[in-house]
Amino acid sequence: MTLETIDLAAGPEDKIILRGVTLRVPKGSVTALMGPNGSGKTTLAYTIAGHPAYRVVKGRILLEGEDITSLPPHERARKGLMLGFQNPPEIPGVRLLNFLAAAYNRRFNLQEKLIGSPRPELVKQAREYAVKLGLSEDFLHREVNVGFSGGERKRAEMLQILLLKPKYVILDEPDSGLDVDGVRMVADAIRRLVDDGVGVLVITHYARILQFVEPDHVAVLVNGVIVDEGGPELARKIEQEGYGAYVAKMGGDKGSGGGL
Ligand SMILES: Nc1ncnc2c1ncn2[C@@H]1O[C@H](COP(=O)(O)OP(=O)(O)OP(=O)(O)O)[C@@H](O)[C@H]1O
Ligand SMILES: [Mg+2]
Repeated sequence: MTLETIDLAAGPEDKIILRGVTLRVPKGSVTALMGPNGSGKTTLAYTIAGHPAYRVVKGRILLEGEDITSLPPHERARKGLMLGFQNPPEIPGVRLLNFLAAAYNRRFNLQEKLIGSPRPELVKQAREYAVKLGLSEDFLHREVNVGFSGGERKRAEMLQILLLKPKYVILDEPDSGLDVDGVRMVADAIRRLVDDGVGVLVITHYARILQFVEPDHVAVLVNGVIVDEGGPELARKIEQEGYGAYVAKMGGDKGSGGGL
């Protein structure tokens, strides 16, 4: 049981950023996608999630064998695919709790009004997860991400993912903007997802979070191409050596310093 891309070429509008990406994300495991800035990691995340601005020109996206390449994003979400944004957006005028309830109802096809009183068991669960993620209950009553710090946005995003129980989730730099306690909490949340059988794709260009949650598989994306794959030791190697060797081999002009 996997989420997979097969020979995927894609990009925003008429650009081609991904050039033949084949990647498998099995259920109940962590796959890490690493790569330097601008290598196409977020493009891959958006393309898999079905962002309307991104176009697939070649290849396929399969969710447990079903071709979802042409499905609109909400149908992919209903099938259990979720994306945690690199920069979670603000939604002024909508309280986090109501947003969570609406997303929950959509995910599980519940016929409740989008903005009503969220069901008590959902409120209870949201409170519990919020505390686990280091967010006070006040956040549930604030407008989504409005005035949230970077780390608070990431925690609220993870709260949404824990509540919605996806089958597969793509986390685009879940550790960015987090303090060390925040990284541990997000790592704990990822482990909880994996224990529940979720297939997790963690995107990062920095191996910090991978110290707290060991990936089963690591893939390295440079200039829109998977240039290396391996086990957790590959993340440690990159942490020490950077991407310089890959970039040089690709004949690219980015990141020649080899730093992360
Ligand atoms: N809408 C767009 N229009 C033009 N170029 C774009 C657009 N979106 C992305 N790109 C370009 O595609 C390339 C890949 O971007 P992407 O955001 O996927 O990189 P990334 O690997 O996620 O980088 P980072 O580690 O900095 O988040 C970059 O050169 C970026 O400028
Ligand atoms: Mg990115």
